[in-house]
Amino acid sequence: APSTLEFTRHPNTAALAEMERAEILADPGFGKHFTDHMVDICWSARGGWHRPRVQPYGPIQLDPAAAVLHYAQEIFEGLKAYRHQDGSIWSFRPEANAARMQRSARRLALPELPTEYFLQSLRELIQADASWVPSAPDTSLYLRPFMFAKEAFLGVRAAEKVNYYVIASPAGAYFTGGLAPVSIWLSTDYARAGKGGTGAAKTGGNYASSLVAQAEAYDHGCDQVLFLDSEEGRYLEELGGMNIVLVKKDGTLVTPASDSILEGITRDSILQLAEDRGHRVERRKVTIDEWREGAASGDIVEAFACGTAAVLAPIGSLKGADFEITHLDGDESLARSLRQELTDIQYGRVEDTHGWMMRL
Ligand code: COI
Repeated sequence: APSTLEFTRHPNTAALAEMERAEILADPGFGKHFTDHMVDICWSARGGWHRPRVQPYGPIQLDPAAAVLHYAQEIFEGLKAYRHQDGSIWSFRPEANAARMQRSARRLALPELPTEYFLQSLRELIQADASWVPSAPDTSLYLRPFMFAKEAFLGVRAAEKVNYYVIASPAGAYFTGGLAPVSIWLSTDYARAGKGGTGAAKTGGNYASSLVAQAEAYDHGCDQVLFLDSEEGRYLEELGGMNIVLVKKDGTLVTPASDSILEGITRDSILQLAEDRGHRVERRKVTIDEWREGAASGDIVEAFACGTAAVLAPIGSLKGADFEITHLDGDESLARSLRQELTDIQYGRVEDTHGWMMRL
């Protein structure tokens, strides 16, 4: 296989007037608006990766028998492009997303997209849609690479025809409350993923299985749902769409270790920053009782949610069927200062001593 791809580039097909785009970029929300282009690369078992292109954003034609529509053979990624003060555009640890997509691909019996192709696909899309990278505070362009089984075949086996795409969507705060602390609903009726299942892969099915539990969270006035392990129903796993971290009084950060949760790149980075500051970080099993008792005794002083879309959101409360615990959030919180440090790196306001940023 060649080490780089030759892209066919389509002419600019901007559908929106500049003024309309400027309005969207000033207040983008999350996942509602999409740029003018998308990347599309084909894969077949016989021919490997081929026909890479940047094309106008628009509907994908699918055979009704396309395997993804029946058996959910699908994976995706999420990362952001940040505009720096000098106008340059950067991504955060994109090689980690490429590697995770390869792990997800192995689990879902999809082809592994080489890291260089992944990076190239981001650069090609940014080149076409650079004007869509916003510059308002705390905004970015959310990049959504995804891959699915396109082969028309109803037998249950790995598809021999697959497509990889990248779309992009200008993004502001993920939660409608902005930076306000979020509330969490503890799901006890539903599990997100089981032992040996697909919980660690970034695949649509994990998010599909979270939806009824997430709806239950909304019904109880909460922003996100927290899942426990499927075997004992005692250990924290993750939230509907992000990881969770608890902070102890002595400054120790505790986060679940589990084979059935997503290995968050944002979580990993935040924990690295905390370790750099001398905080102790524990990646281990943590029970719901440990959190409840720790909150009651004052041993656990903060909790936060983290992910690419959400960045880092302090958790203000955890509600269950018969209890509620609250955490105070203040300007002095560790969560807020770690969020500040992470975003300072991402937006190029401080030196990137970890080598996390890659120019697109
Ligand atoms: C992300 O944080 O990028 C995700 O993929 C999670 C989703 C809730 C948007």
